[in-house]
Amino acid sequence: MERTTIIPPAQVEEQLSHCAAVARLTAQWPEKPLAFVDTYGCQQNEADSERIRGYLDKMGFGFTDSEEQARIIVINTCAIREHAEQRVFGNVGALVHVKRRRPDTLICLCGCMAQRPQAARKIRESYRHVDLVFGPQALWQFPEMIHGLLTRRGRTFSVEDEAGSIAEGIPVVRQDKIKAWVSIMYGCNNFCSYCIVPYVRGRERSRKPGDILAEVRQLAQEGYKDITLLGQNVNSYGKDLDDPIDFAGLLEQVNAIPGDFLIRFMTSHPKDATRKLFEAMAKCEKVAPVLHLPFQAGNDRVLKVMNRRHTRAEYLEKIKAVRTLIPDIVLTSDVIVGFPGETTAEFEDTLRVLEEVRFDALFTFIFSPRPGTPAAEMDDPMPREEKLQNFNRLTALQDAISEEKHAAYIGKTVRCLLDGLSDDDRCNLTARTPGNRLVRVAGDPSALGQFRDVKITGANKWSLTGELI
Ligand code: SAH
Ligand code: SF4
Ligand code: F3S
Repeated sequence: MERTTIIPPAQVEEQLSHCAAVARLTAQWPEKPLAFVDTYGCQQNEADSERIRGYLDKMGFGFTDSEEQARIIVINTCAIREHAEQRVFGNVGALVHVKRRRPDTLICLCGCMAQRPQAARKIRESYRHVDLVFGPQALWQFPEMIHGLLTRRGRTFSVEDEAGSIAEGIPVVRQDKIKAWVSIMYGCNNFCSYCIVPYVRGRERSRKPGDILAEVRQLAQEGYKDITLLGQNVNSYGKDLDDPIDFAGLLEQVNAIPGDFLIRFMTSHPKDATRKLFEAMAKCEKVAPVLHLPFQAGNDRVLKVMNRRHTRAEYLEKIKAVRTLIPDIVLTSDVIVGFPGETTAEFEDTLRVLEEVRFDALFTFIFSPRPGTPAAEMDDPMPREEKLQNFNRLTALQDAISEEKHAAYIGKTVRCLLDGLSDDDRCNLTARTPGNRLVRVAGDPSALGQFRDVKITGANKWSLTGELI
């Protein structure tokens, strides 16, 4: 595997000098400038937005959720399905009114969609009120781009197709005080035939273990209780590093960091999920007993055309292995319905996997063709009606399983993390079981951030209710 390109620290310092230069400009503005960062897509994008906020903070910006009050609007986009892009185009289109009323508002579009040539072209040609477009690979240069816009004017596009790099030392402003994201790697090399991610996020590259451990150590010291290690396929962590380390090894090192916190991770690819990983999970007391292991389809022919490089039997074997080592593990997965050429009989193999595994929760998607991926070119004869029918059968089956699995919690006492406020009057707090199931409880908000025993008293297919002990 190729070595990962590391951005020299001096170049990140240079970006921080651009922040300081912008801060000198904004200090002269009559009011404290505000920025609005709007995030679509997965946790990786949430983590990227926290770095954008980190940079904006150093530039002297405060934050708002109002497009009217913001002097900079950043829309961090997702390209995973067509629907995600349509929402962005709709919202970006509406910003033309904001720009008309306040022409000095800077409108920036970044993230995975920006890195798709067809989408970038559409923005360039038809959304002329957008000032700056940059892809995930250029994020580390955000201050320089903003500085340029504020001093020279002119639209800026930084969307070259790059393998990507790693930049350490970018400031971060986190959205939450209890849960934190830590990217351990970027990009993806798997090229599942339906998926846009490898095209927009570049090649797989791992952060050095020392940098990851330092970040987690600091989070633990700051009192974070729930830390999620992020990557598109965390199981291939370390393959591009000189350090002889794999993901199981990294988990053990993160687990050794002192403090009372939970470690989660996502996402795992079944082809690379090993017994060694499951053993590390079983051994590490801070690693939450939960595994998100997408299987996408239950039929081997479909899996092959998806380029998933695992069979249904291999998948079920891994589930068995992890359950042997961690009997109470919470299992979740992703499924695509209506992949080109999948027949209803083949789809029924997916239902059988659900029945066999009995996942605690499932994320279900109808296939969306992404231009530039192999699957977008494949024959797709099944009418949408039939795909929808299959989709409904899938969700009905999973709903029934989720409801049964949740009902089994009733009467049990579970150590949960109180993690947020709920809009339910009777149960004003939310909590999470170690397996990340949502529990609603009544309690004093000052207890947020604490691990507390909760007696589970009720359940439905989405969540549990309970009482603090
Ligand atoms: N790296 C993760 C997945 C990231 S995308 C993994 O490999 O598991 C999250 C989910 O979106 C995928 O698991 C898949 O189920 C779904 N997905 C990706 N591309 C899609 C497409 N073109 N149409 C429908 N669903 C898709
Ligand atoms: Fe997409 Fe497959 Fe990579 Fe996941 S592993 S991001 S589904 S290409
Ligand atoms: Fe979407 Fe990009 Fe994540 S395409 S799902 S935001 S990696």
